[in-house]
Amino acid sequence: MGKVTISTLDKMKAAGEKFVCITAYDATFARLVSEAGAETILVGDSLGMVLQGHDSTIQVTVDDMAYHTECVCRAAPDSLVIADMPFMSYTTPEQTMVNATALMQAGAQMIKMEGGTWLSESISMLVERGLPVCAHLGLTPQSVNQFGGFKVQGRTPKEAKSILADAVEIQDAGASLLVLECIPAHLAADISSKLDIPVIGIGAGAGTDAQVLVMHDLLGLSSHSARFVQNFMEGQDTIQGALKAFVDAVKSGDYPREEHTYS
Ligand code: KIV
Repeated sequence: MGKVTISTLDKMKAAGEKFVCITAYDATFARLVSEAGAETILVGDSLGMVLQGHDSTIQVTVDDMAYHTECVCRAAPDSLVIADMPFMSYTTPEQTMVNATALMQAGAQMIKMEGGTWLSESISMLVERGLPVCAHLGLTPQSVNQFGGFKVQGRTPKEAKSILADAVEIQDAGASLLVLECIPAHLAADISSKLDIPVIGIGAGAGTDAQVLVMHDLLGLSSHSARFVQNFMEGQDTIQGALKAFVDAVKSGDYPREEHTYS
């Protein structure tokens, strides 16, 4: 398919073609994700939970992210690799610039930050200097202590209005992509149709332009299981088969189904 860029994803959104993102943290799995046909790889700070064994992503550092981003980028030269900015590494525009630069120099093509309107200034600053940004709204795991747990967001009219307003502002600030996590399917579909930029969902229903899952969840390796997770190892003999089954299911519209969505 050649090197995937943000233009590839923009064209896929315009054509109504779904694309796929899977997390990876090392070279071997990055290669498998790329070979399975996922257009994008997220070096997520979920590595704090699935690799390091923490109960949240709070402990992950910029050095951790840069290390794993380098490992992934070496093995997946054709994928668009997005690297997470970890907890408290983007509290001011200046700090954001320094830490985002470290992840781009580790090989990422885009960085991801969790949060709404307060990020606008940092997003504009990075984008004006040629550093593309993916934003992340809804259940933003770095705010787990603020939320009092990993809880579905956007269920009240006030919360839903605020997530939609944040999404529009983030797009206006120059973000290229948006991740929506654990929000009602109707809200995610509404935001995806209102925005020009591609929207990637996780626990956000079938109405987004793309889907992402944490690799360990889709391989059935995680100790917990959220409603939106499907174990794609079921019916497969190999990890390669499971990754391909996820990619195919997203592209054909077979995942996520009603049973995976929140209302
Ligand atoms: O860190 C991560 O893996 C993520 C996904 C859950 C979207 O942010």
